[in-house]
Amino acid sequence: MTERPLTFIHMTDLHVNAPGVEDDMLFSETRDTLRRTLAEIARMEQKPDFIVASGDLTNHGEPEAYRTVASIMDEAGLDLPVVYALGNHDRREGFAEGFSALYSDPTKPYDHDTVIGGLHVIVLDSSVPDEIGGFWEAGQVDWLKARLAEHADLPKLLVMHHAPMIDLTAGEMEWESLSRVATEELRQAIEGVNVVGILSGHVHMDRVALWHGVPVVIGTGHHAGTDVVALPGAFNMLDATGFAVGTLYPSGLQVTFVAHPQTREVRHTLDMQRILDFIEARKTAAE
Ligand SMILES: [Fe+2]
Repeated sequence: MTERPLTFIHMTDLHVNAPGVEDDMLFSETRDTLRRTLAEIARMEQKPDFIVASGDLTNHGEPEAYRTVASIMDEAGLDLPVVYALGNHDRREGFAEGFSALYSDPTKPYDHDTVIGGLHVIVLDSSVPDEIGGFWEAGQVDWLKARLAEHADLPKLLVMHHAPMIDLTAGEMEWESLSRVATEELRQAIEGVNVVGILSGHVHMDRVALWHGVPVVIGTGHHAGTDVVALPGAFNMLDATGFAVGTLYPSGLQVTFVAHPQTREVRHTLDMQRILDFIEARKTAAE
C-alpha cells in the first residue's frame, strides 16, 4: 500500500463573535458555520492531518470571541492540530487572552512555524493593528528568511491572512492584499525555496493565483462571500461560505473547495467610498 499523502483543511475568515454580543457587522451565523465545517471534517473518511485557520478568527477580537473559537473547536473533538493565523479583524491582546497557550506577547506579531508530516508550515502575521491591508513589521522578513533556511529538505507551506499583491497596477486597492512593498519583500525571501503554496483569506472569495510560480489560494471563508460579478460597481457580501481540502502530492499541491449550502443572496452592501476614505485618512495621518 502506498503512503497516504498529507491532507489538511483550509478554513479562513471565521469571524466568530462571542455569544450574546450585538454585532451589526456580522452578516451570518459564523459560530454555526464553524460547527458545520468541523462536522464536515468529522464526516471525512480519511481524517486530515491538520487544520489551517488563516485569520479573521473573530469579528472584533474580544477575548471572549477567541474563547468561543477555542470551545467550538474543542467541542468538535477532532483531535487535530490547528494552525492559526491572525487577520485584520483580530486583536492581538484578545488572542493572547483567549489562546494563552499559543501566544503571550501581544506587542509582537504572531509568527510561528511547525513541521507536520514532512511539511514545514510557516505562519506570518500580516495584520497591523487598525489597518485593513497587510504589512510586515520590522524583523518579520528576517524571521521568515531564518525559518526558510531551516528544514531545507522539506517543502514549505506559507500561511498569511493577506495574499501577496498580484495586480501591481492596482495601487489604490492595497487594502485587499499585502502591500506592494511587503509583496516584493516576500518574493525576494522565497526565491529559490520550495514553497508549495500560500494560504490566505481576507477578500472572502475562492481565488487561485499563480504568483511567481507559487500557488496562492484564498478561500471564501465562514462569514459572507464577496459578490465577485458585481464588482467594482457594488461591494455586496453574499450568503456564501465554505472551506477547502488540501492534499500534498509529490507532484504538487491540490486544493479542493467545499461550498456550504448557500443562497448567494445579498446580506450587506459595503460602502466602497467609506473604505477608500478610511484608507486615505490613515495614509494622511501617517504622513
Ligand atoms: Fe475577513
